[in-house]
Amino acid sequence: MRKQWMGIVVVAGVVAGQAQVRAHDAKNLPPGPIHDRHELMEGIGKNAKAIGNALKSGDLKAVPEAASAIKKDAAKILPLFPPGSTHAESRAKPEIWTDWKTFEAGAKDLEKTSGDLAATAKSGGDVSAAADKMFDNCKGCHEKFRVPEKK
Ligand code: HEC
Repeated sequence: MRKQWMGIVVVAGVVAGQAQVRAHDAKNLPPGPIHDRHELMEGIGKNAKAIGNALKSGDLKAVPEAASAIKKDAAKILPLFPPGSTHAESRAKPEIWTDWKTFEAGAKDLEKTSGDLAATAKSGGDVSAAADKMFDNCKGCHEKFRVPEKK
């Protein structure tokens, strides 16, 4: 159980760290969907980090709100990826538009896994397992549809 949590904390930390590293790049993004999805994902990253920290400390009070916020944001992902919205500072892969069905499913899954996590945290269920599912969701979509971080 503990080991699993550490995994989640690492994923959340990595995700949030990436958001920080790239935060200064936002000014290079043109106003519109590419800029807005950057902000959206950063917000999702902050809430994911809050969930990771809650699991690490064992104090789960922050989880329902953070997971519900991710659910709301997940519903906003798809319209922010109009066809061909690429940019030098964007890490969106062209596969998003050649395999839109899979991308769409990933965003819908995130609505579900974050909603399940919020519900599980409220009902006192297995928060660690529910969080795991959600973080797998983030990772799955990033692996397929996001260009790896430049070193
Ligand atoms: C449906 C696919 C998908 C899902 C699910 C997804 N992401 Fe993303 N995420 C992306 C894509 C694509 C980008 C790159 C967007 C760009 O650069 O234009 C991204 C970028 C990010 C960024 C970097 C923001 C920036 O531009 O600096 C963070 C942080 C992030 N995601 C966190 C998360 C977290 C945490 C989750 C799960 C709770 C998650 N994402 C779920 C597709 C997804």
